[in-house]
Amino acid sequence: MDPSRAADSPADESTAPPPDGPPALRFPYDASALTAEPLRTERLVLRPLESTDAADVFEYQRIPEVLRYLPWPERNRAEGYEHTAKRAAGRVLADDGDFFVFAATLPGEPSVGGPTDGDGGTRDRVIGDFMVRVSSAKHAQLELGWVLHPDFQGRGFAREAAGAVLDFVFETLQPHRVQAFLDARNAASAALCERLGMRREATILEAEYNDGEWQDTAIYGILRHEWAAGRA
Ligand SMILES: CC(C)(COP(=O)(O)OP(=O)(O)OC[C@H]1O[C@@H](n2cnc3c(N)ncnc32)[C@H](O)[C@@H]1OP(=O)(O)O)[C@@H](O)C(=O)NCCC(=O)NCCS
Repeated sequence: MDPSRAADSPADESTAPPPDGPPALRFPYDASALTAEPLRTERLVLRPLESTDAADVFEYQRIPEVLRYLPWPERNRAEGYEHTAKRAAGRVLADDGDFFVFAATLPGEPSVGGPTDGDGGTRDRVIGDFMVRVSSAKHAQLELGWVLHPDFQGRGFAREAAGAVLDFVFETLQPHRVQAFLDARNAASAALCERLGMRREATILEAEYNDGEWQDTAIYGILRHEWAAGRA
């Protein structure tokens, strides 16, 4: 990717590429800036995942129902904390495979990990997380992924957070297309994709072998101009 195109500031109308123009990802992008200036929705605050969020993440990472359609193995607490530290270390998007993770925090809901900010103040609980990954820098394709604690499912939180993340990536990073890969049986995730305006583009038969069986993968996607039309 041509580094002269690099920028990490939000797009404005004068710099936004035409919807069907050539790839114009604004890379490299360092998500650390979102620590000081998180995304705010009606009920949630979305900021980069930190290793100190491990206790809250483990609360959903250890639940078999949550893992059912995720490519995550069952982990004990130490393994879970290590996994969260690795995911929290992802911050800069520049090349294929790079990622960062938004922690969705719910103001007023105390963290299960207790206060860790040194002054004894209450820390808001991470109720889920939302990943942004580079599928192809060359072709301006990004991927989203999500997980929410079951106690907070069925209340529109995933829709609220994923919608904000989708708007953020289209506005700030300028992808041409955003996609999500799902276990084809994952009805809750498919419904979320559809609520976000994404289209089921493919079902890949027996794409993965997990938990002793071949599993189909569904691919959902949305193009930049479709997202823009949905916002108009
Ligand atoms: C996928 C996942 C994030 C979806 O979460 P979710 O809570 O079902 O999604 P939403 O936040 O969009 O909530 C939608 C539901 O909340 C209801 N709802 C209640 N109050 C609402 C509100 N204020 N606004 C919007 N929806 C509301 C909706 O009617 C809908 O209910 P329904 O499922 O009975 O139709 C969740 O199932 C999950 O974390 N699963 C485990 C991990 C996983 O599989 N991740 C995906 C891997 S690809």
